[in-house]
Amino acid sequence: MTILVTGGAGFIGANFILDWIAGGGEAVVNLDKLTYAGNPASLEAVAKHPGYGFVHGDIGDAALLEHLLAEHRPRAVVHFAAESHVDRSIHGPAAFIETNVVGTFVLLEAARAAWQRLEGSARAAFRFVHVSTDEVYGSLGESDVPFSESSPYAPNSPYSASKAGSDHLARAYHHTYGLPVITTNCSNNYGPFQFPEKLIALMICNALEEKPLPVYGDGRQVRDWLYVGDHCAGIRSALALGRPGEVYNIGGGAERRNIDVVQAICDELAKARPRQGGYSALITPVADRPGHDRRYAIDASKIRSELGWRPRETFESGLAKTVKWYLDNSGWVARVKSGEYRRWLELNYAARSAP
Ligand code: NAD
Ligand code: TYD
Repeated sequence: MTILVTGGAGFIGANFILDWIAGGGEAVVNLDKLTYAGNPASLEAVAKHPGYGFVHGDIGDAALLEHLLAEHRPRAVVHFAAESHVDRSIHGPAAFIETNVVGTFVLLEAARAAWQRLEGSARAAFRFVHVSTDEVYGSLGESDVPFSESSPYAPNSPYSASKAGSDHLARAYHHTYGLPVITTNCSNNYGPFQFPEKLIALMICNALEEKPLPVYGDGRQVRDWLYVGDHCAGIRSALALGRPGEVYNIGGGAERRNIDVVQAICDELAKARPRQGGYSALITPVADRPGHDRRYAIDASKIRSELGWRPRETFESGLAKTVKWYLDNSGWVARVKSGEYRRWLELNYAARSAP
């Protein structure tokens, strides 16, 4: 038995594959295009494992997908591959439509054809897990109730709009063709192997280099943080126990303001690697992100009650693990800071003056 993972060289996909193989799961084929966010070094620990195979390719390549699905006959597809960074979607939305919308469509078509060729129990057991985000629900006010699976879609960035499009396609493939799709919508993740463009990874890496810690706008935007290992456990629960056609929201119940997250990182770093004057001296307010969503929060009661999932880490324990991981893995960090990464920092931050 095999599962096909897309985007497994990215942050969450790599954590998923490492945990899956450590847990004795069946063989994994990882299809990844290796964009700037894809990093085979994250999978070094399993690269030679007999249960791991890597295919360098694009989810938008229908011929490649047909070949892969016929060759491996996976019992499930776990779909992570995406363009995933809101700020990049503001600077260049085209790749987001290409991969998140068109690529997901091509993948769903290929999975449908492969599933329709299966028979009996293999057909009944097949699953397509579509990994998505809480950002499709838009932005909450301070006193609004958290997003549930029935919250209306109201995406505000090219990233979230493209993920919303992919969610609608996944839903339609279940509703129209009966493809056994399960969708998960998760809150903000953090943890090992996160590319240092997202808030927590960027702040840790900048602080360690004594660079400014750029906080957008007033820093009072709220995100609901979940340790990546807990997200991966939620996806495994959805794959094993989720009902086809259902959506499961996954979140840590750990709402924090950005400024408080950055302060917590500074405090954690100060314990592990003391700095004269402390790290918070590096905090620098910068111009806000256009269309910046104010608050995300997830009501995860459905996955808790129906699938028995719950997070193991608190925000504090997960953050301590994450800071330690970045301190212990400076080689990984150095390798991802390519010329492309430096160009991105220049594009996104050079023109941001104080708000
Ligand atoms: P990431 O940007 O770190 O990794 C994305 C991976 O997909 C990379 O390895 C990249 O090479 C690959 N990829 C991109 N385009 C591809 C294509 N056309 N074909 C094949 N591979 C391609 O992203 P992530 O943070 O690991 O997120 C994974 C998924 O989880 C995404 O679908 C994202 O929307 C979702 N998600 C992320 C978060 C978060 O906080 N990071 C939260 C909820 C949901
Ligand atoms: P990010 O990690 O990009 O995730 P998302 O936008 O998908 O929630 O950003 C998390 C929050 O941190 C968001 O409110 C924007 C803010 N942020 C900063 O203040 N400074 C930064 O340099 C970055 C990358 C994000």
